[in-house]
Amino acid sequence: MDDLARRFAEFARAFEVGAPLYARIAERVAREPEVLDLMSVTPETQRVPVLLFASAHHLLLAEPSHPLAGHYPNLDRANPEGDVTDHFVDFVLSRPEPMRDLLATRSTQTNEIGRCNWFMFPFWLLDQERGELAHVDVGSSAGLNQLFSKLSFMHRPGGRIGPSRDDGDDLTIECDISGNPPIPTRLPRVVWTAGIDVSPIDVRDDDEVRWLEACVWPDQVERFERLRRAIAMARRHDIEVRTGDAVNDVADVIERATNHGHPVVTTSWVLNYLPAERRTAFVDELDRIGSSMDLSWVIAESPHETPELPGHAGSDELITVISLVTWRDGARDVKRLATTHPHGHWVNWGA
Ligand SMILES: C[S@@+](CC[C@H](N)C(=O)[O-])C[C@H]1O[C@@H](n2cnc3c(N)ncnc32)[C@H](O)[C@@H]1O
Repeated sequence: MDDLARRFAEFARAFEVGAPLYARIAERVAREPEVLDLMSVTPETQRVPVLLFASAHHLLLAEPSHPLAGHYPNLDRANPEGDVTDHFVDFVLSRPEPMRDLLATRSTQTNEIGRCNWFMFPFWLLDQERGELAHVDVGSSAGLNQLFSKLSFMHRPGGRIGPSRDDGDDLTIECDISGNPPIPTRLPRVVWTAGIDVSPIDVRDDDEVRWLEACVWPDQVERFERLRRAIAMARRHDIEVRTGDAVNDVADVIERATNHGHPVVTTSWVLNYLPAERRTAFVDELDRIGSSMDLSWVIAESPHETPELPGHAGSDELITVISLVTWRDGARDVKRLATTHPHGHWVNWGA
């Protein structure tokens, strides 16, 4: 078995329980050299099962009446006819050119609105300390987490908080909480927001949005529907995400933020994309800015992937850890706050 076939076989074993649809397809693809060959155009670092699945999903989203869609829980639960793996193989092999185009040029993308739960508790602490906040989201992707102030949240325990309903938005993000954090009694006041990303997704571009949707696994029906609603919200509001680099461009955005409120930078599963020396450069840049103005930074990253960040040295944890870094009168302080689910379904305070 060659290396790529082995990756599909391993995927099938690893996700048999958590993602049965893709697991079944992966098991079949591992035995289909013609399908594997479609990925010969893919750069080695991207040659992973999820890229093949996202590419097929992307094309399927544009052809929802294809029989393969009958097996995708997010598309059409009512009508699964025939064998899903036959449909999948037939679907991708009969569309070799668009498949190869996607497989040669794309990488998987995430913008997970549930991660607003990661910002909630540090924002609440900062609201209590500093009042109105100006949010600078670095690595913002489509800017969905910049919708923070427009969302409702259901905390268990804690109940519901959210904005007054006068603009037609109604998206509730749920979160199970353990470990007794300070539970917000109202939304933290985020009065301004801007994002930067080296490769932002334009929510008004149907193809880009479809790629973001395609990267969600079809078994995750609720997540898929929530993403669609978040995208619709982002289209209604003027969410600003500029093209920019974390290290080179963060200072300009922070400077603009200071005109509106206390500047709070967030990074959520972004800094793992930077090489180690750029991560260090990002920390140095915030240290430089924080030496001359009060600044806060919410880190929501895996210590294993980002050992250069404050508080991460010496930890090998793969889990997402939420930390709050503050610069006050030039002095830096780092507090580890919580661990959390990759999409924000739960937050374990103090862990
Ligand atoms: C996994 S996504 C996370 C998006 C979002 N923060 C979230 O949590 O849903 C990582 C994002 O980081 C962006 N990114 C990678 N390197 C970057 C850099 N040097 N500067 C700014 N953004 C970067 C990518 O383009 C991508 O949109």
